Amino acid sequence: MNMNICLMPGDGIGPEIVTQAVKVLEKVAKKFGHTVQTETALIGGAAIDAAGNPLPEATVAACKAADAVLLGAVGGPKWDTIDPAIRPEKGLLGIRKALGLFSNLRPAVLFPELAAASYLRPDIIGQGLDIMVVRELTGGAYFGEPRGETVVNGERAAFNTMIYSESEIERIVRVACEIARKRGKKLCSVDKANVLDVSRLWREVAIRTAAEYPDVALSHMYVDNAAMQLIRDPSQFDVIVTENLFGDILSDEASIITGSIGMLPSASMGSGGPALFEPIHGSAPDIAGQDIANPLATILSVSMMLRFAFGLEKEAAAIDAAVKAVLAKGYRTGDIYVGEGEKVGCSAMGALVLDAI
Ligand code: NAD
Ligand code: IPM
Ligand code: MN
Repeated sequence: MNMNICLMPGDGIGPEIVTQAVKVLEKVAKKFGHTVQTETALIGGAAIDAAGNPLPEATVAACKAADAVLLGAVGGPKWDTIDPAIRPEKGLLGIRKALGLFSNLRPAVLFPELAAASYLRPDIIGQGLDIMVVRELTGGAYFGEPRGETVVNGERAAFNTMIYSESEIERIVRVACEIARKRGKKLCSVDKANVLDVSRLWREVAIRTAAEYPDVALSHMYVDNAAMQLIRDPSQFDVIVTENLFGDILSDEASIITGSIGMLPSASMGSGGPALFEPIHGSAPDIAGQDIANPLATILSVSMMLRFAFGLEKEAAAIDAAVKAVLAKGYRTGDIYVGEGEKVGCSAMGALVLDAI
């Protein structure tokens, strides 16, 4: 198989982690007799600096022409004070929207080898953790109109609109039901239906949609309780489905149970076009340029790419196994180092995974 991949390294640690992930992709492809063609496109702050726009037309075209997209991360203090209309993050939101990527899969998996790096007690993590957070990605307060600034009682005020249509809710719940069906058959829909109208519609549509999946046990939880339950007893969850903003927050929370946000990959998919794969973390400006970032979330995003965009299960499993083997030997980047094993940097970790394939 030939794979045409559009790479968008982005900002901060983005280029460092994407470099390692591409090496892994190329090695796996070679080992299994595939070919990879890559094209690099600008996004985020890098695109603002080069073209005055966080999402140049050429980038959208390159993504649409590719079979799949691999993204590092965008943003950083350099662009925090510019016109919000052209912030780096706008580039990321724009490409998600342009490719119709409404479904964001964020698996929070604790490698048993990393149990000591989890921020939870051993008796709480128990047999490990394997939660799939299904985050709606192109709706809610992120994109809702109207939004902006106004004046209320003579003073500045600002507002956003959290809005979902029935069809937007139905399609993401359907994705979550399909996933739950192939896993533990438990789906927890997280909302704030005790307060928000948008959540009451969400819950109603979730119930209606999940009724078509009698083999999947649907439950509901308010988001504040869900945030607490994730820490109190994470293993009660199998698949979580939730709206854009809640999913953003809960997935960062879930990541820390696995040891570090530097471990969590994601897949963003729509209906048919190229999917986008990226770590859930950001550009980590505090550690950028030091070759100490954890590249595993991005390497595991390549595994998700092989599995979900190309149906290459053996190839994906080879990456997962290589990551596991490297962790089993005790190699750790700083974010998952807890005093045992050997601390390594970003490129060294990439090289170790490469050797293990
Ligand atoms: P962040 O995820 O970049 O960093 C939070 C903390 O986690 C930092 O201490 C960082 O060093 C650490 N961290 C993150 N990834 C790591 C890795 N791979 N290895 C080791 N440590 C890692 O979140 P932030 O600091 O809130 O945001 C920084 C910038 O990134 C902002 O501009 C934000 O908008 C942007 N951001 C982008 C994305 C994305 O591109 N998908 C996601 C989140 C944040
Ligand atoms: C993420 C990030 C983005 C989001 C930002 C950078 C727009 O936090 O991918 O989780 O909120 O979706
Ligand atoms: Mn986030």
